[in-house]
Amino acid sequence: MNYRRLGKSGLQLSELSFGAWVTFAQQISNETAEELMTIAYDAGVNFFDNAEAYANGQAEIVMGDILKRKGWPRDTFVVSSKVFWGGDLPNQEGLSRKHVFEACHAAMRRLQVDYLDLYFCHRPDPNTPIEETVRAMSDLVRQGKVLYWGTSEWSAEQISEAAKIARELLLVPPTMEQPQYNMFHRDKVEREFAPLYQSIGLGTTVWSPLASGLLTGKYNGGDPGDTRTSLPEYSWLREQFENDEARSRLRKVKQLAGVASDLGTTLPRLALAWCLKNPHVSTVITGASKPEQVRENMRAADIVGQLDDTVMKRIEAILSSSS
Ligand SMILES: NC(=O)c1ccc[n+]([C@@H]2O[C@H](COP(=O)([O-])OP(=O)(O)OC[C@H]3O[C@@H](n4cnc5c(N)ncnc54)[C@H](OP(=O)(O)O)[C@@H]3O)[C@@H](O)[C@H]2O)c1
Repeated sequence: MNYRRLGKSGLQLSELSFGAWVTFAQQISNETAEELMTIAYDAGVNFFDNAEAYANGQAEIVMGDILKRKGWPRDTFVVSSKVFWGGDLPNQEGLSRKHVFEACHAAMRRLQVDYLDLYFCHRPDPNTPIEETVRAMSDLVRQGKVLYWGTSEWSAEQISEAAKIARELLLVPPTMEQPQYNMFHRDKVEREFAPLYQSIGLGTTVWSPLASGLLTGKYNGGDPGDTRTSLPEYSWLREQFENDEARSRLRKVKQLAGVASDLGTTLPRLALAWCLKNPHVSTVITGASKPEQVRENMRAADIVGQLDDTVMKRIEAILSSSS
């Protein structure tokens, strides 16, 4: 496993990390969750991603129990939470000082940790001034409850504004952003955030590197069953996999399979390695519902070296084709 610095910070994250969305406390048993985290940890993963919203907090409870049972030393892992969707009542969601504080304390309790290494604003909150959120996050850092704070799916403009406020008011600025990044979803990481890597040293912890499984090739022959799209709560995702855009993407995935096979690798590994190839990615957060998926994904770094200009151009030609 290779380790990368989280932006300009001193924190080192495994370039492949592991998250709990969809799977923990929903799709898989707690025993499987423990097996997956153990395979990842043994492969060198040191960052486990979570959020108050995942399975309504239950995903953090499952992860916290596993961390406790495994007894891994605290300095061998980094764990995150995200605040935004904590419940239906007015102060149970958003980025007000009240919810940011209460969600942080609740996440620490569920994860059974004394501090969160990374704490993200899960989405921008149009109803809270950015200054209020920056102050709340900065105070949590000063209180030792959070080590690094960041954002998820904020615009470059909003992140710049938060950094500017922090600079002017001598508060702690955001360290990282968590955007979606995969072969089909690139604009923010490659274009919009480009100035921020230099100007504020932004780190990125990117999500859905396999586009929820589409890039593994397993949907090429239709719905394979036994996947996240079969879960009733994720019917919205199944619908996304059946529209015209998905059909066009699947045609590209079939062509990408040819690239993978010429490289002697698999589609999941190729898709993850393609994300790793981008130096502005601090860590690629993987997800899995089965042990063999984690084992497979952990081998992605092996082929990054094979992604030379010729291969990258071939991939680019497939992705940019209008078919
Ligand atoms: N900040 C945010 O807004 C946000 C949003 C989404 C996710 N995230 C974070 O990013 C993490 C990863 O996102 P993601 O789970 O969507 O990632 P992903 O890599 O796009 O999809 C992971 C899913 O693809 C399937 N899969 C994985 N490896 C496979 C393999 N080798 N072969 C075949 N199928 C494979 C599994 O689903 P099946 O069970 O269907 O097989 C697995 O759960 C999440 O856990 C979460 O921590 C953050």
